[in-house]
Amino acid sequence: MKTLRLFPDADGLARAAALLAQGATVAMPTETVYGLAADARNGEAVARIYEAKGRPSFNPLIVHIPDLASAEAIATLPDQARLLADRFWPGPLTMVLPLRSDAGIAALVTAGLTTVGLRLPADPTARALMRAFGGPVAAPSANASGRISPTSADHVLDPEGGLEGRIAAVLDAGPCPVGLESTIVGWPGGRATLLRPGGLPAEMIEAVLDQPLARHEGDPSAPSAPGQLTSHYAPRALLRLNATTPEAHETHLDFGRPGPFSLSDSGDLAQAAARLFDLLRRADTLGRPISVAPIPEQGLGAAINDRLRRAAAPRP
Ligand code: TXA
Ligand code: MG
Repeated sequence: MKTLRLFPDADGLARAAALLAQGATVAMPTETVYGLAADARNGEAVARIYEAKGRPSFNPLIVHIPDLASAEAIATLPDQARLLADRFWPGPLTMVLPLRSDAGIAALVTAGLTTVGLRLPADPTARALMRAFGGPVAAPSANASGRISPTSADHVLDPEGGLEGRIAAVLDAGPCPVGLESTIVGWPGGRATLLRPGGLPAEMIEAVLDQPLARHEGDPSAPSAPGQLTSHYAPRALLRLNATTPEAHETHLDFGRPGPFSLSDSGDLAQAAARLFDLLRRADTLGRPISVAPIPEQGLGAAINDRLRRAAAPRP
């Protein structure tokens, strides 16, 4: 299979939508990272996602929808979910919600769970694609299982461990402005819980709910909890975190100072988030150990540090 590179004009969107309708997989941009999309109602199409990514099939996928009415057709929204949808959708928030029995979503999407992860992305290309296709699309990040999430079409097609030749097409709409996966919130046991820190700072969610989010402390081997495979965001190189002084042999990802691999010269966390995965990939190609400057833990810093800790975790 030769992977097509399509662009978000009328022709590219129509071709991408037709591929989805045929049950093929298409990588689509979102404001967070590129997702590998397939028709969420077609089990065989969804199976092709797992196949292309080489992903353990017990990991449930996020369903992307173009509007709130589509969310209500798939899941039941508790009052707090409605409040968050109203305030943060479209945007980098995924909510894990009770799946409706008449949702029509392929069982493979939820890995047989009675909940479903729903996200309404803000990216205009993703929304235009879903409108042209006319249905919900399941989409995990468009990287091979265990590798860094892609924030550009070039990352998706990376000859080293990318999906070139494994998927029908990629819709190329340039780099992703947020650069970190969505924040995931769920209500296990009825309590609003942060299941994965991400592109929407947890503090903003807590401000709207007017209560702190419970932190998820699950069994690291439990498949129902997101992002818990230990080295989920792994570059090949060894990573040293909170490095105030880089060693001469290291490639240093600085923060708050200029440098060839600085996450943000000015110490801007949104800029650092948007650049993180691209800089990790570029640093990784140099084949030297990578050190990363300390990143403050507030706002988007919590999600950046979460990804860095996973990238630095011992490999299986
Ligand atoms: O920003 C994002 O969220 C990107 C873009 C493409 O939308 N998607 C993404 O998908 O990061 P993925 O598959 O790499 O991560 C989805 C996470 C997984 O860790 C999965 O365990 C969790 O969401 N998840 C999905 N449905 C779930 C459910 N019903 N219960 C618990 N966790 C769920
Ligand atoms: Mg992923």
